[in-house]
Amino acid sequence: MKDIQVKKLIEAEKKRQKKVINLIASENYVSKDVLEALGSELTNKYAEGYAGKRYYGGNEIVDKIEQLCVDRALKLFNLDPNEWHVNVQPLSGSPANLAVFTALVPRGGVMQKDGTTSITGKIMGMALDQGGHLTHGQKVSATGKFWQQIPYGLDQTTETINYDQLRELAMKEKPTIIVSGYTAYPRIIDWKRMREVADAAESIMMVDMSHIAGLVAGGVYPSPFDYADVVTTTTHKTLRGPRAALIFVKRDARELNKKIDKAVFPGLQGGPHVNQIAAVAVALKEAATPAFRKYAIQVVKNAKVLVDELEKRGWRLISGGTDSHLILVDTWNDGKKREPLVVTSATKAEAGAGAITGKEASDRLEKHGIIVNKNAIPFDKRLPADPSGIRLGTAAETTRGRKEKDFKAIAKKIDEILRK
Ligand SMILES: Cc1ncc(COP(=O)(O)O)c(C=O)c1O
Repeated sequence: MKDIQVKKLIEAEKKRQKKVINLIASENYVSKDVLEALGSELTNKYAEGYAGKRYYGGNEIVDKIEQLCVDRALKLFNLDPNEWHVNVQPLSGSPANLAVFTALVPRGGVMQKDGTTSITGKIMGMALDQGGHLTHGQKVSATGKFWQQIPYGLDQTTETINYDQLRELAMKEKPTIIVSGYTAYPRIIDWKRMREVADAAESIMMVDMSHIAGLVAGGVYPSPFDYADVVTTTTHKTLRGPRAALIFVKRDARELNKKIDKAVFPGLQGGPHVNQIAAVAVALKEAATPAFRKYAIQVVKNAKVLVDELEKRGWRLISGGTDSHLILVDTWNDGKKREPLVVTSATKAEAGAGAITGKEASDRLEKHGIIVNKNAIPFDKRLPADPSGIRLGTAAETTRGRKEKDFKAIAKKIDEILRK
């Protein structure tokens, strides 16, 4: 690279990535092949439209790339192309979710001929502080500005989804769409029960499997495809691909797939990033290998070791542990109190001995080369900028070959740093 300034910065970031222990639950390290596809000449090409129906010439090769990506995406999750459609063009997870809602959830505020105002469609999604993602209808996201969010949450005792409560709320609100699949939820989601709730409320069942896609592909987390109408996923978390997203849509008489394709292009995007689509195709092939299955198994094993080792040292883990790659640690509580804290004046005295806020914990760990993110815990009484916990994930370090003994050492180090 001739641009020395950028080259130096890339080299510095490469070095930083090598040096740290990366426990960010949403990150991973892609293969050289994925990087090669991303940095290829495909980035030069405009390809507005879909395979065989482009608005630009010169797309015969791009068509093959997009089709290959589609075929591999369906194959990876054992989907019959006659039953499932997949759009591989979303630039990332947030635009993918926005595309689904744009396609399927009515927007209101429009004066009707009879003088009434049309109803805004409702998105039922988990509240941010309970583990949901911004794009599941939170106010600060476009999804919460254009539509009404019906937030649902967890059971305060178990810190897991209370499906009976969820059903009650869904029956009362009758949302257009119910979203499951989260950003900070360590446990297995009962897709069958989600389907029952969606059926009872006559809602569309959408799953955002961004966090767990690699675990589903690797067969260590239940697949949502037997139940969902729509499944979105980022490709860059446990799936270990480039930054991008996929939208899978069940084919039926409602033809939701056609609406979603139109919402992606021309609704929200212009030319697809063909280099990115090729890189996704590469990652999907990698994820179909026995080596990837072994990787997914190890990711969960490592997370369970991290849970056991932290718990042994007195740390309270949200929901008592994990079934996935993701762990939420209540650092403010430190395991001395199991009841949710009512922190009125946010003094340390009210928290457990040795308590530390999520921000303090994350800053302190970073100083010692362990990268995590501060995170709200369910029913958090502290503010999001300085919440009560941290989120950990094992996907990235497992890619680097770390096993159970390494995670035992990591847990010990975390404990020592946080208790200093
Ligand atoms: C569940 C979920 N959905 C969507 C997204 C958004 O993805 P992106 O950052 O690619 O827009 C995230 C990101 O963390 C996520 O956790």
